[in-house]
Amino acid sequence: MRVLTGIQPSGDLHIGNYFGSIKQMVDAQKENDTFAFIANYHAQTSVKDGKRLAELTMQSATDFLALGIEPEKSTFWVQSDVKEVLELYWALSSFTPMGLLERAHSYKDKTAKGIAANHSLFSYPVLMAADILLYQPDIVPVGKDQIQHVEIARDIAIKFNNEYGEIFKLPEYKIDAKVATVSGTDGQKMSKSYKNTVNIFGEEKKQLKTIKKIVTEQVALEEPKEYENCNVYNMGKLFLNENECKELQERYTRGGEGHGHFKLYLHDVIWEYFKPYREKRAYYAAHQDEVREILNYGAIKAKEIVLPMIEKVRSVTGIQY
Ligand code: ADP
Ligand code: TRP
Repeated sequence: MRVLTGIQPSGDLHIGNYFGSIKQMVDAQKENDTFAFIANYHAQTSVKDGKRLAELTMQSATDFLALGIEPEKSTFWVQSDVKEVLELYWALSSFTPMGLLERAHSYKDKTAKGIAANHSLFSYPVLMAADILLYQPDIVPVGKDQIQHVEIARDIAIKFNNEYGEIFKLPEYKIDAKVATVSGTDGQKMSKSYKNTVNIFGEEKKQLKTIKKIVTEQVALEEPKEYENCNVYNMGKLFLNENECKELQERYTRGGEGHGHFKLYLHDVIWEYFKPYREKRAYYAAHQDEVREILNYGAIKAKEIVLPMIEKVRSVTGIQY
């Protein structure tokens, strides 16, 4: 099965990104034909400082390689290294009703938050449709917030196919229900924009400080505590196996320990979990040329898939004359 996902290079990765997107992609590599790219054109909608975007692109490539994207198993590239995607974006635009984009939650949410409405923000789902349709994946693993964008890609593909025949395969999204929304330190959806993240590659002291800030209920030390709705437990659950979860539940219900103890435990669990990834990250950070080579190799592999597809599109739409 072919699986594809794009990840914006928009800053430090947090554990919501990891469980909602990256880990699914890494796990998918075992059995599938996987495609993962750094969506730097998409990031232009929010990052206007060019030097910063270039740095973030390399930082993200380094992070994803460290977290387990394997260039031999997956096709891993930077979106802008395969420029045909912009050509398809334009071809698809004529099959994208305005109403479809006007209904997009992500656009509505962003403008409601005061982000200035501009064309790239508005047409973002069309570029995402081009990302997807160009590679003909069966499955697109995403977090909950991106489901609608995959549906828009399907709608555009259907309209295009109605005109020209079965050119595009219709993609399906896949969501891991267990981690559809990872909560942040305040119990809301973890997001960079809400400043409630636990980052993957932060410093240890900073991580501990963040974890100590997790909102918990006030219960006396000796009293039993509820774990079901506890933000500390819910975060820990992502990292623990069944037995470890049970042990933690028992510690909550037994009483005699405060949330401070559970927070220290959570900090240790997260710090240990990412230890091998930190080591790998240090290697790639010191070997940026190797990272560039991997990306070049990925772009070559991606182009092999893309060229026959874009030629078909040029041909049916009459651009090839
Ligand atoms: P952020 O909200 O921090 O800006 P992004 O929008 O860059 O995160 O998301 C990158 C990927 O990570 C997307 O696939 C998104 O669905 C997933 N993701 C982000 N936050 C979460 C979360 N709290 N829980 C689950 N998945 C998430
Ligand atoms: N829009 C996605 C996000 O913000 C990133 C993305 C761009 C993507 N193109 C994609 C995800 C194609 C899946 C498939 O997270």
